[in-house]
Amino acid sequence: MLHKGYLEVDIDLSLDLVKEINYLKKEKNAVILAHYYQNSDIQDIADYIGDSLGLAQQAEKTKADIILFAGVHFMAETAKILNPNKKVLIPDLNAGCSLADSCPPDSFAAFKQKHPNHIVLTYINCTADIKALSDVIVTSTNAVQIVESFPKDQPIIFAPDKNLGAYINKKTGRNMVLWDGTCMVHEIFSLEKLIKLKHQNPKAKVIAHPECEAPLLEHANFIGSTTALLNFTKKPENGNEFIVVTETGILHQMQKASPTKTFIPAPPNNNCACNECPYMKLNTIEKIYIALKYEQPELIMEKDLIEKAKLPIVKMLDLSAKFGL
Ligand code: 13P
Ligand code: SF4
Repeated sequence: MLHKGYLEVDIDLSLDLVKEINYLKKEKNAVILAHYYQNSDIQDIADYIGDSLGLAQQAEKTKADIILFAGVHFMAETAKILNPNKKVLIPDLNAGCSLADSCPPDSFAAFKQKHPNHIVLTYINCTADIKALSDVIVTSTNAVQIVESFPKDQPIIFAPDKNLGAYINKKTGRNMVLWDGTCMVHEIFSLEKLIKLKHQNPKAKVIAHPECEAPLLEHANFIGSTTALLNFTKKPENGNEFIVVTETGILHQMQKASPTKTFIPAPPNNNCACNECPYMKLNTIEKIYIALKYEQPELIMEKDLIEKAKLPIVKMLDLSAKFGL
């Protein structure tokens, strides 16, 4: 029985969980896809670690029978939509997303009706119901290019992240109508603390995710998706010190790729020193072991919803391939 968002079973404490997970992966022909915001130990056992676009692309091409998605619910949904005949497991069904929650389907359908001539471009951080109401899905990696692939006078609704939407409007000179949603992690970075950190570390480059609010982005030397931020830090010409304005999980890969460089997490406007996504962090190695062993919780979706939500995702994947992303 799933009492919480996962199966509650006792685990033999003498087990080497990494070894067991690797054994189960082989035995069941399972693959673990993990987002950069997962805890380091999860990233270290994943078969693929990436941003939302990379993960969708991996999900599309995997030959595994089982996909264990170490990320949040909308990411696992995307994997299921692309693989309706495969088993998709999620370590904790409660791993949601504040951005996805900020866009309920009924209100969004009414919003769409108010803007009849608009096409709907939607950030992948939304539920399958919202995807089914969209024309094309975008991620932080491909959003600017996808928006620019439409004529300048094409009216566009962009949902659900108003910060990413405002950033794209600024970059492309568009005036997309924005849904009023935000990511609870990226909207609580402290501008005051960031400015202080910049003064204390004058050589550090500020690198930020476009889900952050505009006043923070104005202080960034570079803005991009998690993969773009990681790639930026690898280039010798970009220096050796970075203030990272996104969820701290990404620091693990940055530090691994550049062990001698310094990465400073930007603090939120509370008493914490770094900014973690409470949903991403619901996943643990223990829950991954249990999910793989008992093949639960499994993500189940209606066939009709899968078919409707698949069209805008496939459009995004096709456009990304066309742009060489
Ligand atoms: P990317 O994976 O596109 O960088 O987005 C970050 C994020 O918020 C995922 O939830
Ligand atoms: Fe959602 Fe923000 Fe967490 Fe990403 S970091 S899963 S957008 S709440």
